[in-house]
Amino acid sequence: MSTYGSFPGSRPRRLRTTPALRRMVAETRLHPSDLILPAFVREGVSEPVPISAMPGVVQHTRDTLRKAAVEACAAGVAGIMLFGVPEDSKKDGAGTAGTDPDGILQVAIRDVRAEVGDELVIMSDLCLDEYTDHGHCGVLDAEGRVDNDATLERYAEMAQVQADAGVHVVGPSGMMDGQVGVVRDALDTIGKEDVSILAYTAKYSSAFYGPFREAVGSSLRGDRKTYQQDPANVRESLRELALDLEEGADMVMVKPAGPYLDVLAKVAESVSVPVAAYQISGEYAMVEAAAEKGWIDREKAILETLTGIRRAGAKMILTYWATEVARGL
Ligand code: PBG
Repeated sequence: MSTYGSFPGSRPRRLRTTPALRRMVAETRLHPSDLILPAFVREGVSEPVPISAMPGVVQHTRDTLRKAAVEACAAGVAGIMLFGVPEDSKKDGAGTAGTDPDGILQVAIRDVRAEVGDELVIMSDLCLDEYTDHGHCGVLDAEGRVDNDATLERYAEMAQVQADAGVHVVGPSGMMDGQVGVVRDALDTIGKEDVSILAYTAKYSSAFYGPFREAVGSSLRGDRKTYQQDPANVRESLRELALDLEEGADMVMVKPAGPYLDVLAKVAESVSVPVAAYQISGEYAMVEAAAEKGWIDREKAILETLTGIRRAGAKMILTYWATEVARGL
């Protein structure tokens, strides 16, 4: 202690003195191979269609999707998560286009696989909402409720057509009970033991999916509260996690990411399988909108959101900024 006052004995600021020091002691780093690009491909369009609530993101044509996959690959991005947008006339109650071997998603999987082979991990959304006329993630019973077990049969078929098309990883995202087990069985039955399952383990009923509805041209009737989780709950996610692992999930995911970092941290500390987080459409839109107004620094805000998600425990991050960020790293 000095004679002319009391000075702090410990000075954490010392390690923040220079950029090099800060870099050296950084506990979390972003790397292109942790990033996964979600991408939409729309049937029957000759030009990409901009998504107004997601400036910079488009519904790809088959051709521009191929290019986006090549660009992601060149930037070192780990994988691509594909979503199909069928023609409106092809939507029906059962989501038939989702199991048509020539449906848009299956065609896109084949296209991307032919273009980049195994250089990129090719993933597909395994859910019915893009293909149903009512916009729900499953089929409905006579009372209009989402029928869990009838939906599982549809998911089994979807898993098989997606695997036949050449996908590396399927992402069951509909939050039906038993979906991971049924998908695993369906894949194994046709000899696709090597196709992995990225389980949407903790998927919350979120207002931040808003822009995605435009992205996949879905007009949802009602809401998803009987199958997606209540934002008020965290322990429930651990139950979902235990079930998904028991049913054979190879990787697990928390979604949305930013508003659910506590859930992500809990999941990450309790499993040994790789953990992913999905920074969803509304999280993207908020940053883009505030940046457009000049209210925040876009690049810094993007990196901060992604760093936060890594810090909370995600190994992989699905983000619409994947290619851009990977290029900058
Ligand atoms: C379901 C699915 C959704 C998203 C990914 N898969 C929509 C939903 O569950 O309501 C949302 C992704 C995003 O908002 O970026 N097929």
